[in-house]
Amino acid sequence: MTEGSGHSVRIPTVEASRPTEFAIDVSDAISAPEAFGASFDAAPSAGALELGEGLEGDPALAFRKTLGMFATGVTVLTTRAAEQVHGMTANAFMSVSLRPPLVLISIDRRARMGALLHEGTRFGVSVLEAKQTGLSDRFAGRVAEDLPEATFEIVHETPLVEGALAHLVARVVRSYWGGDHSLFLGQVEFARYGEGRPLLFHGGRYERLIEDPRVFSLLPRELLDPILALGEEREYADGEPIMQMGEAGCDLLLLVEGHANVERPGRSLTLGPGELIGEIEVLDPGGGRIADIHAVGHVRTIGVSRQQLLSALEADPRAAIALIEVLAARFRETA
Ligand SMILES: Cc1cc2nc3c(=O)[nH]c(=O)nc-3n(C[C@H](O)[C@H](O)[C@H](O)COP(=O)(O)O)c2cc1C
Repeated sequence: MTEGSGHSVRIPTVEASRPTEFAIDVSDAISAPEAFGASFDAAPSAGALELGEGLEGDPALAFRKTLGMFATGVTVLTTRAAEQVHGMTANAFMSVSLRPPLVLISIDRRARMGALLHEGTRFGVSVLEAKQTGLSDRFAGRVAEDLPEATFEIVHETPLVEGALAHLVARVVRSYWGGDHSLFLGQVEFARYGEGRPLLFHGGRYERLIEDPRVFSLLPRELLDPILALGEEREYADGEPIMQMGEAGCDLLLLVEGHANVERPGRSLTLGPGELIGEIEVLDPGGGRIADIHAVGHVRTIGVSRQQLLSALEADPRAAIALIEVLAARFRETA
């Protein structure tokens, strides 16, 4: 396998003929228009791409970097031709229609995958989970010794990468010319998703979503309990605000009874007994509260003020060191 090629499993080669709509020599643009009902002459040449201020140098690179600002997930596209399973990493995947269920993929015309797909064939889409960077590299044809092997599950006669966050099987219903790429519109026959976090791609790099900000909850019990023992009990009636976004306040609360509804821009979650509220604010009191939190049912908490927390850390520096370690591990996750 060479750099720049994807990953095939079991059977080494498949002779698949390229669909006629792609049997076009792009260097000979004059012959192309009839094939697509559109003129290549009308398509802007690379030189016609205007770059914004400050973007000098190679226009193709600037264009690529501009597109790279669009954050995506990462998929492995798979297909089976004869006895061969072929997989290829792709982030040019998009949802198109709910009724009928349609998705679109964009494949480089040099990629082997393009030669294996044509109207009527099926392809699998495995949406990679945050830790599956090795599989992404493998199916992008990157060469490294420690890349993991993939295992496949066959659904609708189509291989799907095991352990992925979501899976789709689609049948190609249309294919289109897309410049140096080919576009395949697939009608989805199978869809499934699980719990987890997606692998992201942005600015040419893998990225991950940051998990909920937990710091104190990751401390060992024997270090956390003495801190909480300093706090005092507070009660809230159903619906009563426990804290409001932006307000000053930096107490750490342990939920003892009842639930708390946490509303942050774009997401909400419910916390239950044993969970902590305000883990970040107590360490960073200048920033204000980062969520609206309301009591669900009768709520009982233990509240530890920042002053009490600092005294506890002074009294037992092991807890302070453990906190620094937790924060460093969190930083590593995002770096
Ligand atoms: C994160 C990532 C996303 C990619 N997305 C695409 C894509 O959407 N379309 C594409 O043609 N190639 C894409 N590639 C490159 C292909 O994975 C790579 O060229 C692969 O070797 C093609 O395999 P094949 O020629 O064996 O089919 C991507 C690579 C990476 C690392």
